[in-house]
Amino acid sequence: MAAAPISPVTARAHSNIALIKYWGKRDAALNLPAVGSISITLDGLYTDTRVGFHAGAERDSVDIGGRKVDAAPFTRFLDLIRARAGIDYRARVESWNNFPTGAGLASSASGYAALALAGSRAAGLDMSPRALSILARQGSGSAARSIFGGIVEMHRGEADDGEDAYAEALLAANEWPLEVVVAITDRNSKAVNSTTGMSAIDTRSDYYDAWVKHAPDDLAAMRAAIAARDFETVGALAEMSCLKLHGLMLSTRPGLIYWNAATVAAMHAIRELRDAGTPVYFTIDAGPQVKALCAPEHTARVAAVLAQVPGVLDTRISGLGPGAHLLD
Ligand code: PMV
Repeated sequence: MAAAPISPVTARAHSNIALIKYWGKRDAALNLPAVGSISITLDGLYTDTRVGFHAGAERDSVDIGGRKVDAAPFTRFLDLIRARAGIDYRARVESWNNFPTGAGLASSASGYAALALAGSRAAGLDMSPRALSILARQGSGSAARSIFGGIVEMHRGEADDGEDAYAEALLAANEWPLEVVVAITDRNSKAVNSTTGMSAIDTRSDYYDAWVKHAPDDLAAMRAAIAARDFETVGALAEMSCLKLHGLMLSTRPGLIYWNAATVAAMHAIRELRDAGTPVYFTIDAGPQVKALCAPEHTARVAAVLAQVPGVLDTRISGLGPGAHLLD
């Protein structure tokens, strides 16, 4: 048995967006992805999570943004930490996002990465970044990437136990200053979350096998473009991966339509900007927000143009951020 739990621990993890997307699982129980992915960790969007294990508590309690939520999905995750630490105490979890939750801004990525770090430390564990990535993956596939900063690759892995399905950094945040303008087109939580959307195994898209088959080529092309700091190729590959993902989602039965009118208008505005000479590319996850990728010298112009798109409620600017870290 491990020693008694230490005092509550607070960790911060930043959200990330994938440039080469992941969708689909090779093992649902262990949450193993069917394909690898490459993402950027965002400085401007993060989750702070405080976890304490308490001897007297009867059940886990979880607050997000000051509101009590159903603890059941988190209990499953906390059980992984308890099993590893050899403790049986229930946890009190308090979590805050500095951005809208569950609306396609990867709150599950930053949330589970912060929970993995704060929870493991509060339980008295000192896990390596790779082990934390494997743990975070079991909460949400994209969370495995938020353990690291900068530009990050998540490996699909081959092993049945998932021990080779982890993320690692390709470049640190300061090695290539890229920026993202997030155009928020809807502040509500999405109707179909990623896990539900991608678990429609028997009703999934006819395109799914092709998606899985071509993923290694997309990853290799992106890796090479990142190594060469070739922004145009990175952007073009990111836009292509985003549209491929949405083609897959749209062709799932029933079709998953995450876009609204402002999402589409923002995509066109970004392409018009590009046609007029500004190097900027879009990407979109399982939600209606549009993320525009550009070099820092173009950020102000991109943000100004996106703010004018009908239906865009707000814009957020972010550079590349650090990996998950402790706050106290
Ligand atoms: O992390 P999950 O299991 O919620 O899935 C995320 C899926 C996408 O955001 C659409 C793509 C990705 O690679 O982040």
